[in-house]
Amino acid sequence: MKYNFDEIINRRGTATIAYDGQRKVYDYENLEPFWIADMDIKTPDFIIDHLKGKLDQAHFGYLVWKQDDYLDAIKHWYKTRFKVNIQKNDIYYVPSILFTVTEVIREFTKEGEGVLIHTPSYNAFLTLIEGNKRTAVESSLIPTDDGYKLDVEQFESMASREDVKVLVLCNPHNPTGKVWTKEELIQIKEICDKYDVFIVSDEIHMDFVRSEEGFYSMTNLMQLDSSLVVVTGLGKTFNLASLASSYMITKHRYFTLQFNRKLATYYGLSAANTLAVEAVKVAYRNGADWVDQLNNHIERNMLILKEFIDQNMSDELTFIKPESTYLAWVDFSKSGYNEAQVQEALQSVGKIATGIGHSFELSESHHFRMNIACSEEKLIGGLDAIKQSFNALKNGEIK
Ligand SMILES: Cc1ncc(COP(=O)(O)O)c(C=O)c1O
Repeated sequence: MKYNFDEIINRRGTATIAYDGQRKVYDYENLEPFWIADMDIKTPDFIIDHLKGKLDQAHFGYLVWKQDDYLDAIKHWYKTRFKVNIQKNDIYYVPSILFTVTEVIREFTKEGEGVLIHTPSYNAFLTLIEGNKRTAVESSLIPTDDGYKLDVEQFESMASREDVKVLVLCNPHNPTGKVWTKEELIQIKEICDKYDVFIVSDEIHMDFVRSEEGFYSMTNLMQLDSSLVVVTGLGKTFNLASLASSYMITKHRYFTLQFNRKLATYYGLSAANTLAVEAVKVAYRNGADWVDQLNNHIERNMLILKEFIDQNMSDELTFIKPESTYLAWVDFSKSGYNEAQVQEALQSVGKIATGIGHSFELSESHHFRMNIACSEEKLIGGLDAIKQSFNALKNGEIK
């Protein structure tokens, strides 16, 4: 079946943060959103129809999430998509990805201690590290001609610091769209083992890998009691961010015990969402073709963006097409404008909301992040808006 990812859907006025929650982040309202990471693409009918069937049952009492259908569906997805054998006993429903990332941080570090991250970094990691009174310790990714690579020496030197106890790995990487190579991930694991650094690998973007080698999950490197938690879910892949459909995979017995005990007796958070569990079952059994076609659509949008920049804005912007995610990390250093000027232009002239670079970095930023999981028509509107914004900067219309 051929799916249509160019259908225009109207999410404004539906209490969707991308559209109706801009005030908290931007100086203007009613911007065309290219910022927060959810899609202007509908969740596929085979999921919606299944959930409607569940709604018809008309009861939503407390749920046993540990069901064979649920665990088998996850196992099936990993086997067929990533060629990994997951043990059902290692899978746990979790309230959210970020909750789980943060719980690893709280479990293995004390206030003031260091949490290693690769920069630029998914902004919520930075906020949560700071909010939990820990220190973000930076391993900066090195820009290359075709993306970014790990700075092994710097990474090892940061991992060896006495105060660094946890690495938050973003695999694949948001915001750069970097696909970590198997070799890099093995190196990361060896270095972390050497210095006793616990890894939480956030793999929420795993289904958007378009490189030839494909996605290498850290679950490949998991053994009994490995200091490793992998956390992921359906939120990005099937546009179900608000359904709380995340799960973790780990063989670390102490963390599992602590985590589940605290969910029940400390946070009071052990109830699972019926619709999320049902969505996992149906998406992971029937979703492969839809996800493949979605990736083709995203790849095409990335190419449109790349060609537009190369042909029309190469004096101002640099963009390397990422091998994963639907997020474009666009560099405006060549333009000579600072971030405040560029954002003012994008918002007041272009009337678009893009991810604000400095929220992903610990220093000054020369990037904006653009979510291109939308119709071609919307994307082209966004590209025109970017062009107009930089024209306004050139013409001195923005102070
Ligand atoms: C890398 C990454 N992790 C986690 C999340 C959010 O996950 P959750 O809503 O399940 O906490 C996002 C959303 O943008 C993300 O990009």
